[in-house]
Amino acid sequence: MTTAPTHLLSVADLGAEGIDAVLKVTDNFVEVSARAIPKVPALRGRTVVSLFYEDSTRTRLSFETAARRLSADVMNFSVASSSVKKGECLRDTVETIDAMGVDALVVRHGSAGVPRQVAGWVGASVVNAGDGAHEHPTQALLDCYTIRQRRGSLEGLRIAIVGDVKHSRVARSGVLAFSALGAEVTLVAPPTLLPPSLAGWPATVSHDLDGVLAKADVVYLLRMQSERMTEALLPSLREYTAAYGLTRRRAALLPDDALVMHPGPLNRGVEIAAEVADLPGSVITAQVANGVAVRMAVLYLLLGGPG
Ligand code: NCD
Repeated sequence: MTTAPTHLLSVADLGAEGIDAVLKVTDNFVEVSARAIPKVPALRGRTVVSLFYEDSTRTRLSFETAARRLSADVMNFSVASSSVKKGECLRDTVETIDAMGVDALVVRHGSAGVPRQVAGWVGASVVNAGDGAHEHPTQALLDCYTIRQRRGSLEGLRIAIVGDVKHSRVARSGVLAFSALGAEVTLVAPPTLLPPSLAGWPATVSHDLDGVLAKADVVYLLRMQSERMTEALLPSLREYTAAYGLTRRRAALLPDDALVMHPGPLNRGVEIAAEVADLPGSVITAQVANGVAVRMAVLYLLLGGPG
């Protein structure tokens, strides 16, 4: 007997088949999202809690919008106004929430592995909404969906991921998902912004951004995650932009049909020139829109089944 998966913790757990299954269901929710009243009763009576220990705009709102479009009840846990401020530990907090009888916990935390740990403590389904520099599986899923929407398939596509790979959970989940679907991934970053080991990363590394861009189907920019940097890893942001930023000049090197992607939040003028983010090849807004439908698919697959 097969049992439905109860958590989404990492792309590594999904594999190509799991990614495909989510993307197929996403099609339905893209259609729902385009309706005049973008709402279905699929998760009526279910409760989804967002538990964010780190700042977020789009991921949190995207999950909450997704849950509401499925008619779930949504509870929003804000660390800043919670008993965490009174010293309550993570385990007590999540067990307290779980005891209220919730169905899913969407967890973001600054430390890698926290969502998996939480999954071991609670009866609810746990969705990883970003854990430290480890993974951000729903971001990778929405990115795969967006690329498929524009290019039909990821098979054989050349995808360049550029920037602060070292601190990026988006890069790690992206590399795993893109390569699982048949893309060739190249990481382009200064050596100080690459992880100490790339063992287990199905990707190659290049420092020749111009050369990579000329042959890229997709260029995926990463934000400089200064909040995770404990030491100076760059001479200056200006020098970083000169060597690795997607400037107007560099964007002109891209093939005409290349896609420009970014998970947000953008630092316009640092990793991406302000006007480049708004060029026709930029699918940054589509990524955000697809994010809601992908998260609806994830919540539906975890909670919507017969039990
Ligand atoms: C990213 C994150 O928080 O991991 N943003 C997001 O979820 N869309 C990337 C970032 O903060 O740079």
